[in-house]
Amino acid sequence: MTRRAVVKGIGHYLPERVVPNAEFEKTLDTSNEWIISRSGIERRHFAAEGETTSQLATHAAKAALDMAGMDANEIDAIIVATSTPDNTFPSAATMVQSALGNTTGFAFDVQAVCAGFVYAMSNANAMILAGQADRVLVIGAETFSRIMDWTDRSTCVLFGDGAGALILEAETGNGTSDDRGILATDLNSDGRYKDLLYVDGGVATQNTGVLRMEGKEVFRHAVEKLAQTADTALEKVGLGAEDVDWVVPHQANIRIIQSTARKLGVGMDRVVVTVQDHGNTSAASIPLALSVGVSEGKIKPGDLVVTEAIGGGLAWGAVVLRW
Ligand code: UT7
Repeated sequence: MTRRAVVKGIGHYLPERVVPNAEFEKTLDTSNEWIISRSGIERRHFAAEGETTSQLATHAAKAALDMAGMDANEIDAIIVATSTPDNTFPSAATMVQSALGNTTGFAFDVQAVCAGFVYAMSNANAMILAGQADRVLVIGAETFSRIMDWTDRSTCVLFGDGAGALILEAETGNGTSDDRGILATDLNSDGRYKDLLYVDGGVATQNTGVLRMEGKEVFRHAVEKLAQTADTALEKVGLGAEDVDWVVPHQANIRIIQSTARKLGVGMDRVVVTVQDHGNTSAASIPLALSVGVSEGKIKPGDLVVTEAIGGGLAWGAVVLRW
């Protein structure tokens, strides 16, 4: 008998305002055609003035709790993966905890930029396997529109805001890859690449700063590292590409998604793609894509799902789970 962290509910939330590529044509030397052909992005959502990451996260969390048929106080732990918390501290997770009315659990943030959700899932899994928690609410939520340089066409057209949440609950499996729940995780980081993707402000500068990215270099690392980490996670449980029902990748660029699928040996008909509608929502992109995949009837109970992500740090990783 093996403890497993099984998904019991999922939900997402996108801010109301949809911004099509054409809007950037008014202020920048860019075009709808360039953005679509280089990134696959057609539109993204931006939070309203005053709308915060923890508010987006709370909406998504409520949807996940609804699907699971759980009350907020049945949750032992809340983890929010974010690089855009409302405040430097306390954590966005404690703000979500307060908004949900959870007084019995513990809450904290995980900061691994675009790989944040994979890191948070791995943490949640470890806590469940250790018996430290039975029910964990894992959220990815971001308001990257707050850290954009609106004069930098090479970054500001790529990112969006949103949140996705899921609930993991301890169940007993038989210890094989047929079990439902998280089967394997693989986490990596390499701080030598910290200057490829970063925000040029923070506590040290006493201002929030804006995102800076060496896009081409990050692209190169993404193509190399994403298939590798997904393969490693699959190998840990003796599975291969042929066993995968759905790849749910971090949604940064359609060209990265396609080339990773090719390297993995998985056809695009088995990849959930939302980058056209959401842009890059960093730590929110995987739970958003998972939630959309479920609501569109693609991801079904028993399906083998592989998620993979890379972002600032560089930090990257993958989670293999049976839905
Ligand atoms: O989520 C974290 C991980 N992040 C990523 O995975 C992002 C990885 N990088 C990328 O997705 C791509 O590198 C980008 C979409 C950022 C850029 O695509 P690219 O094919 O690598 O383009 P590039 O940076 O080589 O730029 C090509 C040209 C340049 O002009 P020159 O130097 O060839 O004259 C850029 O100045 O495109 C220009 N350019 C633009 N043109 C119109 C850059 N941004 C724009 C723009 N509109 N918005």
